[in-house]
Amino acid sequence: MTEQRSTNITWHEHNVSRADRSRLKGHRAAVLWFTGLSGAGKSTIANEVDYKLNQANVHTYLLDGDNIRHGLNKNLGFSADDRTENIRRIGEVAKLMLDAGLIASTAFISPYRRDRDQVRALFAAGEFIEIHVDASLETCEGRDAKGLYAKARRGEIKGFTGIDDPYEAPEKPELVLDSNNKNVEQLADEVVAYLRQRGIIG
Ligand code: ADX
Repeated sequence: MTEQRSTNITWHEHNVSRADRSRLKGHRAAVLWFTGLSGAGKSTIANEVDYKLNQANVHTYLLDGDNIRHGLNKNLGFSADDRTENIRRIGEVAKLMLDAGLIASTAFISPYRRDRDQVRALFAAGEFIEIHVDASLETCEGRDAKGLYAKARRGEIKGFTGIDDPYEAPEKPELVLDSNNKNVEQLADEVVAYLRQRGIIG
C-alpha cells in the first residue's frame, strides 16, 4: 500500500449516491479485471466485450494497459514497484468508474497476485470480477504480435513477464477464459453470459 502523504484532508459525502447513478443506467456497475500474459488476448477480448455491452445499451469504459501507459501512467516502467503502482492506480480509477455506475473493463498483465488482491479489497463482494485470460507461454510467444517475446529472448528487454519476470496466475478467479483453444467471439460471449447470469445486466 502506498503511504498517505497528504494531511489536513477530509472525505466529502456527495448528494448523488452510487445507487442514484446506477438507477439511471439501468444495470449494475462492475469491474471486469482481465489478467494474463502479454499476447494472451486481454485487450482484444476486453474490446469485444466492451463492444457487445455497448450494443446492448450498457454503459461501459475500457482501460487498456498499453494506452494508459501513454498517459496517466507514462512515468512508470516495468520494475516490480512500478508494476505495483501501475495496478494500484488502475484499481483506484476502476473504483471511480464503478462509482460512476459503469461496467469498467481493465486489460493489464497485472502479474502479481498480491497487487490484484489489493485491488479486489477496494470493492464489495460481487463487484470485482477477475478474469484470467489463460493462454500458455507457448501460445503467446507463438503469436508474438508485437515482436516483444523475440526481443526478450534476445535479451533486448529485461524483466519481461513470462520470460524473466513471473506471472502469478489467479487462484480463484471468477472466470477463466481458455484462450489457447477458443476464439475471441466465443470468449467475449462467455463474459457477457456471466454478467447476465449474475444479474449485473438484464
Ligand atoms: S503490468 O505488468 O504493469 O500489468 P501492463 O499491462 O501495464 O503491464 O503493460 C504490458 C504491456 O507493456 C505489454 O503488453 C507489452 O506490450 C509492454 N511491455 C513492455 N515491456 C514489458 C515487460 N518488461 N514485461 C511485460 N510487458 C512489457
